[in-house]
Amino acid sequence: MLWTKSLETGIEAIDNQHKELFRQIDILLDPGKANRVRDTLDFLEKYIAKHFSDEQGMHIKAKYPKAAEHKSYHDSYIVVFRNLKGKYLKEGPSPANNIAVNKNVIGWLKDHILVHDKDFAEYFKSLP
Ligand SMILES: [Fe+2]
Repeated sequence: MLWTKSLETGIEAIDNQHKELFRQIDILLDPGKANRVRDTLDFLEKYIAKHFSDEQGMHIKAKYPKAAEHKSYHDSYIVVFRNLKGKYLKEGPSPANNIAVNKNVIGWLKDHILVHDKDFAEYFKSLP
């Protein structure tokens, strides 16, 4: 399990979606589930888009000052994910592609959660 408690933002709706993202990424990295890679990538692509749009909706509703900045991080991640998905579908799972998932998907997501989502959570919890 790639999820750790330190990734919690304290906003339940966001945390639950993050956990689901990590559960799905676990499937990608499990050599025993190689037959599920294509479906998992399709699911992840849709789920990431939904998750980002849910978060962005919360940002706007809460008048988060960094909403535009955060949205541009999300947009850049969608490009990263799409490239990775394309490579995976072409080449299939391999040690090199698993390293790429680790770096570009898990690494990016963890960073994003720890820095940007936590920043929003702090702002959100400080609202009157
Ligand atoms: Fe985010």
